[in-house]
Amino acid sequence: MKKVCVVGLGCIGLPTACILSSKGFKVAGVDTNRKLVEELNQVNIDPLEPGLAGLANSAIRSGSFIPRLSPEEADVFMICVPTPPTDENKADLTFVKDAAKSVLPYLRKGNLVILESTVPPGTTEEILKPILEESGLNVENELYLAHCPERVLPGNILKELVENNRIIGGINVESAELAKEIYQSFVEGEIYLTDATTAEMVKLVENSFRDVNIAFANELSRICDKLNLKIWEVIGLANKHPRVSILKPGPGVGGHCVAVDPFFIVEKAPDEAKLIKTARCVNDSMPDYVVEKIEQAVKKAEIKTPIIACLGITYKAGTGDLRRSPALEIVRRLEEKGYTVRACDPYVRDFTEFPLFSLEETVKSADCLVLLVDHKEFKEINPHELLKKMRGSLIIDTRGIWLPKEVK
Ligand SMILES: NC(=O)c1ccc[n+]([C@@H]2O[C@H](COP(=O)([O-])OP(=O)(O)OC[C@H]3O[C@@H](n4cnc5c(N)ncnc54)[C@H](O)[C@@H]3O)[C@@H](O)[C@H]2O)c1
Repeated sequence: MKKVCVVGLGCIGLPTACILSSKGFKVAGVDTNRKLVEELNQVNIDPLEPGLAGLANSAIRSGSFIPRLSPEEADVFMICVPTPPTDENKADLTFVKDAAKSVLPYLRKGNLVILESTVPPGTTEEILKPILEESGLNVENELYLAHCPERVLPGNILKELVENNRIIGGINVESAELAKEIYQSFVEGEIYLTDATTAEMVKLVENSFRDVNIAFANELSRICDKLNLKIWEVIGLANKHPRVSILKPGPGVGGHCVAVDPFFIVEKAPDEAKLIKTARCVNDSMPDYVVEKIEQAVKKAEIKTPIIACLGITYKAGTGDLRRSPALEIVRRLEEKGYTVRACDPYVRDFTEFPLFSLEETVKSADCLVLLVDHKEFKEINPHELLKKMRGSLIIDTRGIWLPKEVK
């Protein structure tokens, strides 16, 4: 088990390939994105993920990690391709199927195939296994197969890849044990073995847990608005209870994990997953709710042609990732409604949909300032100083970062 072929070199595949190569594995990294493969081979890596550029550059220079466009023979094949939702919010497994088919000509008896992509329960057993058996090899006796879901936090991926506990679901016990040998080479957390379908469900349950709990906080924030209560104070005081730990409300849930994975459970059990489905609806309704709040605030303040300044457009703090971002959705909706919007985000590059301004310019022009993302650069701002710099005096802090400590 000395050579690994990692298929898909995105947020998950690239750091995994780099870590494996740093642990002595020979790694072939495959991606269908020619530009990405060329950039990697020219040692030209996105530096936003802390530590990744250095690790990848040295792995590529040393020859232990070779980015390429098609798979080659290896002992282990690791599939790390996207599983986006379709328009009907079902898992689009096209990339997983294509990736599995692409390794077929290179599979040999005794190989291990690991699926890292997030998938609906049953995918490894019912979809991946039959595709791999098109190689003529029998999964279980001649090929080993496991699902090892990823649970890293973008912005902290290299650290979490090593430190997080891992769940490994084998198609049989031998597959799980074999996959454990690979992960043991770099994982310092605990490794728990189970079957493939349980591992698939565990990953989805983790993100659904977060989604449902955030939805609870968001629903509470709407209730408190209606009852004229301060949500942050209510949650802060309720959390003084030893067995209560309510999450923070916000402008919605974005990204490609927490906002998507619950749908993969709904897809498999639509009649039973009522709470999970409702939580998705609550969180998806938050951008509209925030826009409504902004409109009410400027109307009440009788500002005729307000300039609305939005701090942050990414789906969460510390990343330039805009996928399913509720903050971006809010800016878009305000613009659609004809408001003049100034947005700023220190993490976003190469963005062309609308102009982004510096923090200073954004604040200076604001009649109404809306904090949408809790980037550390915004947390460092003193809200009293902010008021002095703004054109107007309306501040809507959707993340509660500028509240006095005693309220949080
Ligand atoms: N990013 C995260 O934080 C995170 C966390 C946990 C789980 N996941 C899951 O991991 C999986 C991968 O996510 P990601 O964020 O790395 O995706 P990504 O979009 O960042 O990267 C996927 C890469 O796979 C490549 N690709 C697509 N089809 C291919 C094929 N047939 N052969 C070779 N390469 C192919 C794409 O070009 C892309 O570079 C998804 O299922 C995702 O839900 C992601």
